Amino acid sequence: MAKKYVKMVIDKEFKIAKIDKRIYGSFIEHLGRGVYEGIYQPGHPSADRDGFRKDVMELVKELNVPVIRYPGGNFVSNYFWEDGVGPVKERPKRLELAWRSLETNEVGLNEFAKWAKLVGSDVMMAVNLGTRGVSDACNLLEYCNHEAGTKYSDLRIGHGYKEPHKIKTWCLGNEMDGAWQLGSKTPEEYGRLAYETAKAMKLIDPEIELVSCGSSSTGMKTFPEWEAVTLEHTYDYADYVSLHQYFGNYNNDTANFLAKSMETEHFIKTVIATCDYVKAKKRGKKNINLSFDEWNVWYHSRRADDDAMKRKPWQKAPALLEDIYTFEDALLVGLMLITFIKHADRVKMACLAQLVNVIAPIMTKADGPAWKQTIYYPYLHASRYGRGTALQPVLYSTRHDTREYTDVFDVDAAVVYNEEAEEVTIFAVNRDLEDDIEFTCDIRSFDGYELIEHIILANGDLLAVNSAAKQTVEPKKAENTRIENGTLTTYLGKASWNVIRLGKNNMKEK
Ligand code: AHR
Repeated sequence: MAKKYVKMVIDKEFKIAKIDKRIYGSFIEHLGRGVYEGIYQPGHPSADRDGFRKDVMELVKELNVPVIRYPGGNFVSNYFWEDGVGPVKERPKRLELAWRSLETNEVGLNEFAKWAKLVGSDVMMAVNLGTRGVSDACNLLEYCNHEAGTKYSDLRIGHGYKEPHKIKTWCLGNEMDGAWQLGSKTPEEYGRLAYETAKAMKLIDPEIELVSCGSSSTGMKTFPEWEAVTLEHTYDYADYVSLHQYFGNYNNDTANFLAKSMETEHFIKTVIATCDYVKAKKRGKKNINLSFDEWNVWYHSRRADDDAMKRKPWQKAPALLEDIYTFEDALLVGLMLITFIKHADRVKMACLAQLVNVIAPIMTKADGPAWKQTIYYPYLHASRYGRGTALQPVLYSTRHDTREYTDVFDVDAAVVYNEEAEEVTIFAVNRDLEDDIEFTCDIRSFDGYELIEHIILANGDLLAVNSAAKQTVEPKKAENTRIENGTLTTYLGKASWNVIRLGKNNMKEK
């Protein structure tokens, strides 16, 4: 069998774009145990005075999440934000229709904004364009962002929040193309409503940025016509269009599963093309950029959840979407992060869906600790070391075919140059399930750079999982990486996530 290998050339002048740190964003929805028993659990030994779990906050802070989308998701399409503000005792309980749960409204936007500040994240707020519309979105924006002296800003002040939350990024609804969405719409209906809402919102606060709702997945029949039609309506006011994508290894075919990030690539390219088509048609000057504001692996819990919602609806914080992630899931999460970095010129936001308990890197036990799932690690590494400028590597990799995909690179990689810190990080996944692969990289452009470390996430068992009791899948240091005469040489272990960090002269202690 022919030898498998990878060759790469990187050069500090070959720049794709400065990375918007918000590509390392996440998402918290009022869903399952994401909020209640997730970030908020009064009575838990680690809870602060406001009921926020400090053990969870520590893990979120470690991830350094720049932006968190809130409050949904499907939840937002029938959400009445007014239920969640003011004295907690007076807040109503509601039938939450998206997930057939009981929403107690103990946590609302003020509490969430306070929590987000504590963990160092900005809030990305979604408005309800399912069962509500222009005026409610305006009221919410006035409540959140207007200084004082008006009905809703004064209401906020009366609720104890003198300073406006100054929320910059707003989503115009959620997955409005989906039949499951409350108040779902045709592209024309959504386009008109989103246009009118966006226009009014920018009159209230011209500083905000708006995300027009894109397709719920590439599998939707209306994709990409949805983007073409809706963006033609919203182009003047929208800054971004949303993309959502979830994968699962339903056929127990790991090679095929790990090739799925090629669909992420295809999705991004198609949406960019559609945005540019609309720009040309409108004779416009600005680009619509991409907000990949829901992405992850999601399948382990699906069937059980459908049954649970049918059999036992209207529970408070039921355990829903609690995927326990395997090691192979972490590899696909790494591959998707690599894909976002490679498109840093147009993908400006991306939210790992979600953050706590619900298809999440962080899990909690109601009567125990918070703990890290396998997918925590590629997300942590990308957020920590993926800040700076995305470089365009010249990458040659031997290839393979899978059930659904041809010419799949054995190794995929992205490179980030942090000019300020004088560091370069190579993120690479070896998709090959059989062989370690020789990796050489020409780094002559980075004169004087030395190896800081080569972090690797690998496990002989693709289905290994972590738990509150045991971190079976954890990063380790690789010891076989060398730099000689401007060439970096290493072996990327079979089925592995790799983070190779270089720094200028004697940076080893960094
Ligand atoms: O993240 C879980 C759900 O997935 C969200 O509520 C919805 O927007 C998407 O379908």
